[in-house]
Amino acid sequence: MEIKDVKLAEAQGPVLDAIRQAIYEHGVALFRGQDDFTPEAHIAFARRWGGIDINNYFPLTADHPEIAVVRKRADQVTNIGGGWHTDHSYDQVPAMGSILVARTLPPSGGDTLWAHMGAAYDALPDTLKQEIEGLEAYHTADHIYEEGGLYAQTDMGRDLRGQSITTGATHPVVIRHPQTGRKLLYVNSAFTINIVGRSREDSLPLLQRLYDAATAADNTCRVAWEPGSVAIWDNRTTWHLAMNDYQGHAREMHRITLTGEPLAA
Ligand code: SIN
Repeated sequence: MEIKDVKLAEAQGPVLDAIRQAIYEHGVALFRGQDDFTPEAHIAFARRWGGIDINNYFPLTADHPEIAVVRKRADQVTNIGGGWHTDHSYDQVPAMGSILVARTLPPSGGDTLWAHMGAAYDALPDTLKQEIEGLEAYHTADHIYEEGGLYAQTDMGRDLRGQSITTGATHPVVIRHPQTGRKLLYVNSAFTINIVGRSREDSLPLLQRLYDAATAADNTCRVAWEPGSVAIWDNRTTWHLAMNDYQGHAREMHRITLTGEPLAA
């Protein structure tokens, strides 16, 4: 959904509460024309929202370590976030959400897509809902960030001291949104490895049925970025994917990740 007539740099009190509630329910909100949303305003807004999770994988801006740079240089082929995922599902306490600001855009392309995990769960056949009731799944990012992994070509995968990082967490396959109580599908094709108690091979057919349902065309929305665009999303409620269709051009976004809370069924 697009929210108009709000200046994020000044939003607080009841305006901020209304934005929060809209994002909890709809999953993602887009704000255009936020030309005064400087890095300082970005950080101040995130602090008014709640805690900031410093991302261990992303290069951070030197002056503003709260901000992770989601960058693709003109000479890079792989982008960050080019497959469907939800940020930080490999953490014991996954991030609540993210605030993404467009800083450098390619002449065309580079859109971002989101899918709603509440609608995805609701649309599952009852038999499939019963099949996944009570299941848990294991998530990690090690296969992506490790030496030679998907992000080997990007600036990511090592912590700020240059050490490699390992991750891993178990979460229910279906969680309840901590604020709205809505049931949400909480597995994703980037970070979910297996259903707990089953091998990856045995888990994949079931996971794939869930992934197919999650990305049904009527369950996704797409944002074409403009200078001054800001998107805020709820990581529990949504998956997202950054299109990689602008080879030869640079794209740079600034992301602040908001602290979440433990997830439960
Ligand atoms: C991300 O996965 O957080 C980045 C999304 C984007 O660059 O559009």
